[in-house]
Amino acid sequence: MKTPDDRHGADGAHADRTRLVVGGRRPHEHYGFVNTPVFHGSTVLYPTAEDYLARRSRFKYARRGTPTSEALESALAGIEGPACAGVALLPSGLAAISAALLSVLKAGDHVLVTDSAYDPTRVFCDTILVRWGITTTYYDPLIGAGIEALMRPNTRAVFVEAPGSLSFEMQDIPAIAAVAHAHDAVVLMDNTWATPLYFRALDHGVDLSIQSGTKYIGGHSDIMFGCVAANERTNQALRDMVFTLGLCVGPDDMNLAQRGLRTLAVRLAAHREAALAVARWFEARPEVLKVLHPALPSHPGHDIWRRDFTGSSGLFSVVFRPVPGPAINAFLNALSLFGLGASWGGYESLAIPFDCTKIRTATTWAPGGPTIRFHIGLEDTADIIADLEGGFAALNAAQ
Ligand SMILES: Cc1ncc(COP(=O)(O)O)c(C=O)c1O
Repeated sequence: MKTPDDRHGADGAHADRTRLVVGGRRPHEHYGFVNTPVFHGSTVLYPTAEDYLARRSRFKYARRGTPTSEALESALAGIEGPACAGVALLPSGLAAISAALLSVLKAGDHVLVTDSAYDPTRVFCDTILVRWGITTTYYDPLIGAGIEALMRPNTRAVFVEAPGSLSFEMQDIPAIAAVAHAHDAVVLMDNTWATPLYFRALDHGVDLSIQSGTKYIGGHSDIMFGCVAANERTNQALRDMVFTLGLCVGPDDMNLAQRGLRTLAVRLAAHREAALAVARWFEARPEVLKVLHPALPSHPGHDIWRRDFTGSSGLFSVVFRPVPGPAINAFLNALSLFGLGASWGGYESLAIPFDCTKIRTATTWAPGGPTIRFHIGLEDTADIIADLEGGFAALNAAQ
């Protein structure tokens, strides 16, 4: 009997929206119910001693996989494209980053990491990898093919993240990947901002494409989840590392990730449209120095974004004209639709003040004024803008 996967997933001819709806579903294995049931389990029982001795069972032990994890892996693989050889599921985005790095590095190796990387990625390199004798060099995210000058005989991996999730630099990933591959190094990417819907990382030279599924995959700010998509070159080592570290995801979080995936394309399109409208509105405000959003023609990385990406998500930053700190606080405190908190990718709008000065070592962060990162949620765009207008009124009153 045909399953949704068979009808739409395998031949690569169908659009991501369809893949997200059908991926991983095998209803006729579950009495016809549309969704894969949530399997809570550890032990898998074998009918006979002979079966046990021969390990004759589709599932062997829950840490190795369950129908719930298998369905989610299959759905995620469907949107990573034909170069995807496998997807590993992890309990958070940071666990996905660290497991992916561990899967390609060993004592004595050297790794190049973009200076714009998510800060805990740096902390992992500086506090854990260093104890295993692995050295990290941070590089200018705009380096492109110039990364050649930083390659050493023991450089085994290059980590990219585009755009940076606070500062929004775009990276020339195909150029970086060409250099890395010429030196036999593996390219890892934090692809949480674009997701494979807007950037097929594995088609652009990336060997391990990482997402914090806590963000857009979950989409509702109610799970911690991460995943890594691997190509043929990196898949086995990734699987072995994740299994040996004993990392796995709870069944309810996998189910929520699976549920989130079904609507990812429509949510992301709505985030994209609203964020672009709000970013353009910010650009016209007298209080704003610049808007850091790669889909705006004013962004220095716009040409790279246009060349390589097929969309933009809901996260961008705004550099305000210099004002005293209390005025920025007044702006933030006046917002009622925007929550003040870490993370992003949920249905709701968020804002956080940030300062990259202390987390840069290869480049200098000097944006020219105070900075706030916005995540534009699924509220009505006119309401979002009205809320931000109230913020600016409070900012101006506080000066
Ligand atoms: C760009 C980026 N990558 C990775 C992570 C880590 O994800 P998690 O919080 O799921 O560990 C985050 C979290 O904020 C992030 O913004």
